[in-house]
Amino acid sequence: MMIVLFGPPGSGKGTQAKKLAEKYTIPHVSTGDILRENLKHQTALGLEAKKYMDRGELVPDEVLDGVIKDRLAQPDCDSGCILDGYPRTIPQAEALDAIMNELGKTLDVVVNIEVPDAEVLKRISGRRMCACGASYHIHFNPPNQEGICDLCNRPLYQREDDKETAVMNRIAVYKKQSQPLIEYYRRKGVLVTVDGTAEIQEVFEEIAAALDSLQAT
Ligand code: AP5
Ligand code: MG
Repeated sequence: MMIVLFGPPGSGKGTQAKKLAEKYTIPHVSTGDILRENLKHQTALGLEAKKYMDRGELVPDEVLDGVIKDRLAQPDCDSGCILDGYPRTIPQAEALDAIMNELGKTLDVVVNIEVPDAEVLKRISGRRMCACGASYHIHFNPPNQEGICDLCNRPLYQREDDKETAVMNRIAVYKKQSQPLIEYYRRKGVLVTVDGTAEIQEVFEEIAAALDSLQAT
């Protein structure tokens, strides 16, 4: 199953993608994680992306399209994957259509996770990350021991672009450049909208129920 998770920053795309990847045993492909991993290793892609990411701007479409094309062509995506954070502009959605066409894949569903701005700000300001990829929230999803990852015991940190000015810009960029995709995918008949303000497990169950009913048809 090819699934796109769509929504504003902090809507829970990464949190839900990890749980869905486990349930449906398909890979979680996050463009944000790929770019951060490249930055960690100081690759040309990572250094180029940093200029945009730190300000909360989108990395240029042509940079991301190549990244996604290579990733989707890998054999672990043969039976599908969960795309988190891509596409987020109309040109990216068109590029994805072309890439999938070329690879003989079909996009099954776009899950639009709706969360209002005030909640987004609360979530992002409380988010804490681990180098192993785990993500927590100081109130909504705390680790067992404050500041320490449950999975690997390393200290948690805050993402560079989670500082307030970058977050405000990310929300503005989402509204201007990403929100038009909702209509794009509604017209294609693949859009499912879920209420992202419920608890993590409840949101997960709502998405899983929607995916299961699609699989049953
Ligand atoms: P990216 O990493 O994709 O960031 P984002 O879209 O801003 O989204 P986030 O990762 O901040 O939020 P999320 O929806 O994953 O929420 P999470 O599950 O962590 O992109 C970063 C940057 O990379 C972009 O700004 C851009 O520069 C660049 N980039 C990436 N893709 C690109 C593309 N396609 N094109 C161009 N540029 C691109 O949850 C947030 C917090 O809330 C966590 O603490 C979590 O524990 C908590 N939480 C989650 N769900 C709930 C819930 N239901 N209730 C309470 N708390 C919750
Ligand atoms: Mg994320």
